Amino acid sequence: MSFDLLLYTVSDRIATITINRPDKLNALSAAVIHELGVAIDLANGDPDVGGIILTGAGRAFVAGADISELAGQTPLQGVARARAGQRVFDRFERSPKPVIAAVNGFALGGGCELAMACHLRIAGESAKFGQPEVKLGIIPGYGGTQRLPRLVGTGRALQLLMTAEIIDATEAVRIGLANLVVPSAELLPRTIAMLSTMLANGPLAISACIDAVVRGQDMSLSDALAYEASHFGTLSATSDKHEGMQAFLAKRPPVFRGE
Ligand code: COA
Repeated sequence: MSFDLLLYTVSDRIATITINRPDKLNALSAAVIHELGVAIDLANGDPDVGGIILTGAGRAFVAGADISELAGQTPLQGVARARAGQRVFDRFERSPKPVIAAVNGFALGGGCELAMACHLRIAGESAKFGQPEVKLGIIPGYGGTQRLPRLVGTGRALQLLMTAEIIDATEAVRIGLANLVVPSAELLPRTIAMLSTMLANGPLAISACIDAVVRGQDMSLSDALAYEASHFGTLSATSDKHEGMQAFLAKRPPVFRGE
């Protein structure tokens, strides 16, 4: 599989998707979004891949939706563009394999939204986050009005959305938008290390964590607790659960097979 606007590599059970349009700061054209959908499906369908890193080539993660494409859109085209992007971003959020955004520079507008659709965000020191759409007379259309308040709370989300303020990596961590900040040169190694820690654990349990958290956010607390309990029960029938517990009792590392 080859891509025009992405780089895609697999190494040590980690697929790395790099948005590769550095001359336009990796702006999300419709073609980039389409290729992102193909790439996440490719990674999820590959049994040799356990987890996914999403990053950007050059000095940006993603500087937003491609403004040159937005400029001439009609209302109906705007709705269709937002829904198409949302569907692809949902595939990142609902990926059964952990997806970490390694945010290496600007994560603005659709870039911030894309990072928020990943399960974790690790920020390099140069990372900048923001939702500057109101400066263009629009609002976020790829989930920003919904995922941002879920991560940072309503007041902080509305502050960022309505001021169009750009914040640095340290502030992003402080408010809960990013998980941690690392020196820029260590961004990919530290992201790989974090993902490798996850991949040493039971893969079915990892997928269940993602599913319970992501799907649970759409449910009432009582429904979500029942959903959690069903995952908890289902995992009890797996050989991974047997292996994890036997390994603990035998004081040896577990060898999970994902079954
Ligand atoms: N859509 C389309 N092109 C974009 C873009 C976007 N969201 N963001 C950057 N680019 C392009 C620029 O037009 C420029 O292209 P050019 O060299 O052909 O003129 C190139 O990427 C480099 O950007 P530039 O603005 O020259 O870099 P900078 O370092 O001076 O500024 C930013 C960086 C991120 C502050 C600035 O590019 C910016 O404000 N981008 C838009 C951010 C935004 O509003 N995103 C939300 C969109 S809904």
